[in-house]
Amino acid sequence: MTAYICGVGLYTPEHIVTNHDLEERVETSDEWIVTRTGIRQRHIAQGEVTSDLGAQAARAALADAGLTAADVTHVICATCTPDSYCPNTATQIAHKLGLTGPMAMDLNAACSGYIYSLQTARALTALDPEAVVLVVAAEVLSSRVNWTDRATCVLFGDGAGAAVVRAQASGRAIGIVDAMLESDGRYGELLTILGGGSARPYAPGEPVGDDFFIQMNGREVFKVAVRSMTDVCRRMLERHGLGVDDLGMFVAHQANLRIIEAVGKKLDLPAEKVFANVQRYGNTSAASVGIALAEGCADGTFAPGRRVLLTTFGAGFTWGAVLLQF
Ligand code: ACO
Repeated sequence: MTAYICGVGLYTPEHIVTNHDLEERVETSDEWIVTRTGIRQRHIAQGEVTSDLGAQAARAALADAGLTAADVTHVICATCTPDSYCPNTATQIAHKLGLTGPMAMDLNAACSGYIYSLQTARALTALDPEAVVLVVAAEVLSSRVNWTDRATCVLFGDGAGAAVVRAQASGRAIGIVDAMLESDGRYGELLTILGGGSARPYAPGEPVGDDFFIQMNGREVFKVAVRSMTDVCRRMLERHGLGVDDLGMFVAHQANLRIIEAVGKKLDLPAEKVFANVQRYGNTSAASVGIALAEGCADGTFAPGRRVLLTTFGAGFTWGAVLLQF
């Protein structure tokens, strides 16, 4: 084992928007949303920014690890909805935790941000065995959702998941056994938040267009997401000589219940080993598997001694898998 997750935490804003609430805003129905996505509700930030959500999840993860903010040496914030373009959100999370000094950087791998950050944390702990790396995946996607576009606004939610990563086993001592992280930029245009970047700058006074918000070719994303997550999970299991019986639980990016179930079926996993909480949170992008991990640890879903396989897929496209030993 090269690194351990010593504590986990999550935070979601108090305000809940149900599918019925969305029926008031756009031409949609609870039945359509549940049938196509499994989602029933999502948490939406009101007055809180990404670093607020991240700091709350970080506090929970530090408490879970039995550590304090003063112990932290590095902060990584995985997000595609930062507080601002600049400064980065990691510095603001550190500031909200009362920290000055730690290396603090953002990492944008869209919905794969949490597992990309775990691997980065693992590398940092290999360079410095005393490092205490705070991984925070936090999103306020509601700030970049076009609330008049029914094809996307029903899918997303806000939230944060955090983990404390160290070289030595302590606290929960969840071993990070292996990570496989991949990408393919040819698919960039299928899922974007383009407006405001250097490829689509805005001039002073120009009103924002549709490209300021999440734009997605849902059908194509669906197909590549299922194919990529299934493929990387198969290769991860093969690399370690494992079968699905060796897994205690399988946690896929919580974007859509149909995607999660399709990957589970292709891997021949029994339904009870396929984690799902997308019904209550919607797609929280980078935060999704972080929230899942923290929730599952708190309610005993992940039994000690068992292996858990995480897999994610996001804009870029980026995807990957992480094998954990509880
Ligand atoms: N309510 C009612 N009708 C809707 C809604 C809605 N909210 N949204 C779309 N429709 C309509 C469409 O207009 C279309 O109508 P038409 O046939 O008259 O043109 C019809 O429903 C079917 O639309 P599709 O887009 O083909 O529906 P599909 O079955 O593909 O489901 C969905 C759409 C849920 C977006 C699906 O494609 C999907 O889940 N894709 C993956 C999206 C995803 O998970 N993205 C995130 C992964 S990566 C990341 O997390 C960043």
